[in-house]
Amino acid sequence: MEANSTSTAVTTSTADRFSAEGWSGEEGLHWVDQRERYTRMHQGITDRIIEAAAVEPGAAVLDIGCGTGDTTYTAAAAGATRVLGIDVSAPMLAEAERRRTPHEAAQVTFLRADPQTHAFTPGAFDVAISRFGLLFFTDPSAAFANIAAALRPGGRLVFSTWQSPDRNEYFTLPLSVLAARIPMPKRDPDEPGGFSLADPDRIRNLLTSAGFDHIDITPVQERPWIARDIDDALTYLRAIPLTRSLLATLDAEADRELELALRTALAPKQTDDGLRLGTATWLVTARRGETE
Ligand SMILES: C[S@@+](CC[C@H](N)C(=O)[O-])C[C@H]1O[C@@H](n2cnc3c(N)ncnc32)[C@H](O)[C@@H]1O
Repeated sequence: MEANSTSTAVTTSTADRFSAEGWSGEEGLHWVDQRERYTRMHQGITDRIIEAAAVEPGAAVLDIGCGTGDTTYTAAAAGATRVLGIDVSAPMLAEAERRRTPHEAAQVTFLRADPQTHAFTPGAFDVAISRFGLLFFTDPSAAFANIAAALRPGGRLVFSTWQSPDRNEYFTLPLSVLAARIPMPKRDPDEPGGFSLADPDRIRNLLTSAGFDHIDITPVQERPWIARDIDDALTYLRAIPLTRSLLATLDAEADRELELALRTALAPKQTDDGLRLGTATWLVTARRGETE
């Protein structure tokens, strides 16, 4: 069955979707809507970031691209005295603020700003963390340099980022089913997006140029919980803005066929503890050089 239209029906480009406006629109609203799912899905990554960050009592922590605040609050619970979550997405920050308890009010704050250009107080933070929040910069060199300047000399940066899509069943399984039926939008691997830091050489070059040393890039392979079952997984897939826009190009019969193909592909991924798909990420740690 052919799609009843072509990829031109995908009206929102990657650049638009991952712009500040995009994150305050469809993308951000999706993350708010699916917040509990992402919290559970990425719990393993959150734990690894917080463990690697080794937040000490009294530490000041910067959470970049903090979204709805999972890692921000986890850093606070780990003992940081002060945690600032920075992000460009209005709805995600509103959700992060909504989650704050009175007990956390003096400890956790959020700022709507872009770390590529924001004038941080120099050396104000001991640790900077990010869970998939460093992937969408139009000028990553400027962003990493500015993050380095916000850290005290010797301060640490810890973040997670996706490895290439072919190592991630989480992306390839559903997208291969879609790609067999719908023309996929083309993208440049270095453009802002989920895989812009998939190349460890690129990560290393960006960090070194920004003044970081002691760079470690560790591969992490997991099989996280994605959904309760196939119905829940399909609800999720249909809610992702990219998938939603691609599916909108199908007529009703093509959509039914695609759903059947997705059900067949996802069925072996059901476990006693939810539907699980393989993921491959990098856990990156680096230290801001001691010299100014
Ligand atoms: C994939 S989401 C991850 C959110 C959160 N760290 C988490 O793991 O739940 C990417 C986040 O980066 C934010 N973001 C994208 N571009 C940004 C920019 N230029 N400055 C700050 N945040 C940005 C988005 O708004 C979004 O919250």
